[in-house]
Amino acid sequence: MKILYIGSGYVGTCSAAVMVDSGHDVLLYDVDKEKVKKLGSNNIEMIESCLLEEGLAEMLIKNKDHILFTADYDQVIKYLDTVDAIFMCLPTPEKEGAEGESDLTYYYLAAEKLAQNLVKRNNNTQSKYVVIINKSTVPVNMIEETNRVMTKYGVNNFGVVSNPEFLVEGKAIEGSVHPDRVVVGGNKEEDFKIMRQVYARFLNSPSIKYIETNPQEAAAGKLLANYLLFNRVTTTFDVVGRVCESFPQINFENLRKVLISDDRIGSWGFYDSVYCGGSCFIKDAASLAHQLEEVGVNAGYVRQTLVSNNFQRDNFFSRAKKEANFDWSKKSVAIMGVAFKQDTNDVRNSGAIDIVRHLVDEGVGEIKIYDPAAMPMFKHLFDPAKDSRYDVISYFDSEKEALSGTEACMILTDWPKFRALDEVIKLICPAPYLIMDGRRMLAARFDELQNLGYDIISVGSPFIKGK
Ligand SMILES: NC(=O)c1ccc[n+]([C@@H]2O[C@H](COP(=O)([O-])OP(=O)(O)OC[C@H]3O[C@@H](n4cnc5c(N)ncnc54)[C@H](O)[C@@H]3O)[C@@H](O)[C@H]2O)c1
Repeated sequence: MKILYIGSGYVGTCSAAVMVDSGHDVLLYDVDKEKVKKLGSNNIEMIESCLLEEGLAEMLIKNKDHILFTADYDQVIKYLDTVDAIFMCLPTPEKEGAEGESDLTYYYLAAEKLAQNLVKRNNNTQSKYVVIINKSTVPVNMIEETNRVMTKYGVNNFGVVSNPEFLVEGKAIEGSVHPDRVVVGGNKEEDFKIMRQVYARFLNSPSIKYIETNPQEAAAGKLLANYLLFNRVTTTFDVVGRVCESFPQINFENLRKVLISDDRIGSWGFYDSVYCGGSCFIKDAASLAHQLEEVGVNAGYVRQTLVSNNFQRDNFFSRAKKEANFDWSKKSVAIMGVAFKQDTNDVRNSGAIDIVRHLVDEGVGEIKIYDPAAMPMFKHLFDPAKDSRYDVISYFDSEKEALSGTEACMILTDWPKFRALDEVIKLICPAPYLIMDGRRMLAARFDELQNLGYDIISVGSPFIKGK
């Protein structure tokens, strides 16, 4: 089949890579010329500098004869004559200050331009049937909006389906090649038939659930799945973690063993962390709350997940002053990890963002950052040309260089190599020194570090005063 992607970000590119690997021909259009150049470069380093996902670069290069990235809309226009399916993979962030309402500007801009050109396809005859697929996470009734935009410009011979993306960043390719489920929400058998061809690779797989619903159920399924996962994580932070922080005899890892041995509780999301970030959970929970409130329903329970998540981050930060009597003013602080989680260079909603802001507000003397993948993305957020207070931030190529000369460090990303960070700390930063472990990466060494005189504040543990 011939498939067009509008938006070649995380979702568009990862999904397209799997589509081309499944034997389809794919064109990806994006307005970001730099991104298009890198993703279409057939060079592993260039691709990964833009989008770091294990196996993605290799898959794009392996299938390079059947996939094309472009920022030139004329190529899209030509493709529209023969295209079978168009995936809309646009950002749908939360509107600023709007308590969860989705900002659909990117979506509408792309959809309007698409409609203006779809109407001219096949020499204005529109003879080729095409399915437009909402892969972006959108409000429950978005399908009606997509239909409205298409109809406004006179597009006919088309269908619209909702096909939410469930990929997990950091495991996107593995997850897209072996998804738990594919959900297709449509209204017409014709559209379902085309989608079955698009997803032929998964259709008869015994391990993948191929689920057909109506469009609203598919869209709501995505929002609710993200809310439930987010709720699980924040409950672990705010209830289990708090119990462990309050009772010195209770160790988080031991309690975890007790609880996850019950299959009904399960192990997913059972960890403690400074923050639950990323591009989806927060905005999707907020969007769900907003949509419920729009129809007059109390969404207090959903909203509480957002409150708990923010409390977790801010409480962790404030514990330095409250519990260790550590004043940030003029201090030199190392930040270990700025990606929102391991195995990605994505910093959207990373806990590190507000932690760095808090440090700057507290008048810290120096912030020395190390992250193996996400520093280029993070730098964009703290441009000293825009705010001279960000002059205190500098970036380093190794843990050692970043830790050198600091009085405290904060571990904010769960990069696996940070589990050995105690060795570097012992070498470079002798006690007295404050370790703030926002990921429990050093939990197995807390006793030893305490005996060496280190003060430790960790999520899921009471304050550990160095001996
Ligand atoms: N990232 C995830 O883990 C994930 C998972 C599931 C669902 N989603 C949802 O998928 C959607 C896309 O997310 P993403 O993470 O891929 O976002 P992204 O920001 O990585 O990618 C979106 C891309 O769209 C491009 N774009 C913006 N306006 C455009 C236009 N008019 N025409 C063409 N391209 C345009 C941007 O340049 C960008 O490259 C969102 O709705 C998101 O909520 C994301």
